[in-house]
Amino acid sequence: MDPKQIDPKQDVAALPTKWTVHVEVRLKTRASARFESIRALVHAYATSLKRIHLPSTLEGWEDVPELASSVERIAVCEAQCPSTSLSVEEMVLQVHVYQPSDGDAFEEFSNSAGGRNEDDDTMAASVCELPNRSYEGLWDALIYAGNIKMKLLDYIHATLVFSDANVDFNLVSWNRVVLLHGPPGTGKTSLCRALAQKLSIRLSHRYSHARLLEINSHSLFSKWFSESGKLVQRLFTSITELVEEEDGFVVVLIDEVESLTAARAGAMAGTEPSDGLRVVNALLTQLDKLKQRKNVLIMATSNLVKAIDTAFVDRADIIQYVDLPSREAIYEILRSCLCEIIAKGIVDSINVPSLKQVQLLEVVAKPNTSRTDNTDPQERTKNVGLRLLGLATECRAQGMSGRALRRLPVLALARYIGVGYARSEPGSAQRGAAVELWLDGMEKAVLDQGTEREKLL
Ligand SMILES: Nc1ncnc2c1ncn2[C@@H]1O[C@H](COP(=O)(O)OP(=O)(O)O)[C@@H](O)[C@H]1O
Ligand SMILES: [Mg+2]
Repeated sequence: MDPKQIDPKQDVAALPTKWTVHVEVRLKTRASARFESIRALVHAYATSLKRIHLPSTLEGWEDVPELASSVERIAVCEAQCPSTSLSVEEMVLQVHVYQPSDGDAFEEFSNSAGGRNEDDDTMAASVCELPNRSYEGLWDALIYAGNIKMKLLDYIHATLVFSDANVDFNLVSWNRVVLLHGPPGTGKTSLCRALAQKLSIRLSHRYSHARLLEINSHSLFSKWFSESGKLVQRLFTSITELVEEEDGFVVVLIDEVESLTAARAGAMAGTEPSDGLRVVNALLTQLDKLKQRKNVLIMATSNLVKAIDTAFVDRADIIQYVDLPSREAIYEILRSCLCEIIAKGIVDSINVPSLKQVQLLEVVAKPNTSRTDNTDPQERTKNVGLRLLGLATECRAQGMSGRALRRLPVLALARYIGVGYARSEPGSAQRGAAVELWLDGMEKAVLDQGTEREKLL
């Protein structure tokens, strides 16, 4: 870690045996406390604890009146260290205080601007303030095999620190372009947003504000093709204006970049009008100009990396493949779905085993799939875990994406509505459906998806 990163007040001569632990403090919407004093209070509170679990949500700080009145949540983030908890002596705390913006994304650039295409209201780009309340929780909701979220975050964070140190650009250069590619529905767009949100929190001590500008490649490059070159110019003029504010950090997300850059290949082959070439050239020139700036990061996503212009791929410093979820990742995704609908009372309350617990159970037990009502809570929990794991295995075999997984609960609900599901009267002990009924629905929904997919092939 760069020593500049560590607040001098917090720096306890960072020994190599210490782990950097990030603590994110979210303030209430209307809180007006000074970030600096909240940071000091949280730091003092956290160091007063003997051990801290990673990751975890801190509790007990409500007894400090200044914190109680301003703070909404204190999260201790996952760290690179192998153990799941650390003593205060083993870590260097970095406390980040932030107040997410409530504002929605506002649309900035549309194809119709300029007056010619009034009937076309597709938006070419939108801007939103970071950190944003609508992206809270997104980071935790994304689940991947391996540690790709942390790897990406640390990597990007490191490069930003690097460029902040004014390293000579002729010796070490970095384009500030990250490219995520992989099958559709694997969370690439979401991961970019979540990363932008994380970075805005982690860099908040350096930048007074941050923004995410999302470019919709399809609309930029669609109907009014001959206008696209000009639109790219206008867009980047505005981006440059944003970037000129040196205390602001700007993340530019170019979503589904293949639709922009495939055109150049087409133009080369003589199958597309030369306008395509102009647009791509405009884009590449603008990207090259931006690389001199410290406070900008460009993230691009693509479902078809082969369709992307090699000149673009070449500019990406980090190219990360985002794969379909593994069986274990699927279990965690399905578990998070189930926990959410339990929390909202759609399915009645039950303890759902964690991935580690269910992996142990798998070794020793076989699921009891008989439909007889089992009332022993422990036995039920075990069965729910094993059946959910069985579902995960089946989803994996079908190669389901994260997006397909997250809509299964709705399909399952639709399934068991006819099978006798009825929400109980308010006030009755059992508010939702029995979890077994929901699992039946899920199993049918997965089977259905399988047969439907086969028809498509
Ligand atoms: N690995 C994952 N873990 C959890 N949820 C996921 C994952 N991948 C996709 N999803 C879900 O699917 C939705 C769509 O993902 P998106 O970011 O649009 O995918 P992509 O851009 O790769 O097509 C996300 O909002 C998320 O709910
Ligand atoms: Mg996407």
